[in-house]
Amino acid sequence: MNLKIALLAGDGIGPEVIAQAVKVSDAIATKFNHTIEWKPALIGAIAIDETGVPYPDETHEICLNTDAILFGAIGHPKYDNDPSAKVRPEQGLLKMRKELGLFANVRPTFTFPSLIDKSPLKRERIEGTDLVFLRELTGGIYFGEKGRRDGGETAYDNCVYTRHEVKRLAKKGFELAMNRSKKLCCVDKANVLETSRLWRETVQSMEKDYPEVEVSYEFVDAVAMRLVQWPSSYDVLITENLFGDILTDEASVISGSMGLMPSASLGEKTSLFEPIHGSYPQATGKNIANPLATILSAAMLFEDAFGLKDEATAIRAIVNKSLAEGIVTEDLSEGEQAYGTSEVGDWLAKNI
Ligand code: IPM
Ligand code: MN
Repeated sequence: MNLKIALLAGDGIGPEVIAQAVKVSDAIATKFNHTIEWKPALIGAIAIDETGVPYPDETHEICLNTDAILFGAIGHPKYDNDPSAKVRPEQGLLKMRKELGLFANVRPTFTFPSLIDKSPLKRERIEGTDLVFLRELTGGIYFGEKGRRDGGETAYDNCVYTRHEVKRLAKKGFELAMNRSKKLCCVDKANVLETSRLWRETVQSMEKDYPEVEVSYEFVDAVAMRLVQWPSSYDVLITENLFGDILTDEASVISGSMGLMPSASLGEKTSLFEPIHGSYPQATGKNIANPLATILSAAMLFEDAFGLKDEATAIRAIVNKSLAEGIVTEDLSEGEQAYGTSEVGDWLAKNI
């Protein structure tokens, strides 16, 4: 198979971790007789520096004319403490999500047997954790009308959802639940928010189409608590954009390092695969960032974008082997010898 993949390395540690995912993907392609055509494109702070905008038209064209997108990270500290900045790297990511219609963000949280004791949570709490968040990605407070009034003294961000938006996300949730343990949790704040009441009402109306799926409805504050108390009690969780942003960062630490969790953003036109972690500016250029989340995102890409399950399984297997053998970056080495970002990538590519 010939795979045409847009490569958006982005900012911070993005280029370093993406380079390792490319090494590993190329090794997989050789092993399974595929060819990969990588199409690099600019996004984020680096795109602002070079073109003035965070998501240039040329990048959009490349994303539309490839089969899938592999994405690194976005963000630069020079924008973080400048609330008056007119152009920000994150706008590029949001624009890309919206324009490519990437409405369903799949963020799994699972544990690795060899890393159970690296988690900040106790072993008996997290053993068996294997859950997936489906975060709505192109609506809600991120995209509602925002602004200032009263001469700048009042600010507002509107949270808006249509039934259609809720339905298409929930449909993915029900389908995913059917392929897993048939348990679905709708996370909302229906005791306070009107948008949450629309979510709940819409999901309730869909229950009859999936009689085998057991659906629960929980408030987001309670989920935030239960997620660290009994993460293994959850399976598929669906939620709106901002709740999903917050809860998936919380969930990502369960596995032991934020540098481990991959994600997929699915849409009608294309799909995008990226690590959950951000641009980690403090580590940029030091060859210390953990590349596994990006490499596991490439595994999701093989499976979800091309249906290449064996290829994905081979990547996951070699990642597990590297963890078991201690071929790990400093976030996981605990005083033992740490490997560099590119050394981990080399080891994985060589051993595939
Ligand atoms: C994420 C990030 C983004 C978000 C930022 C960078 C805009 O935190 O992908 O979770 O809030 O969606
Ligand atoms: Mn986030």
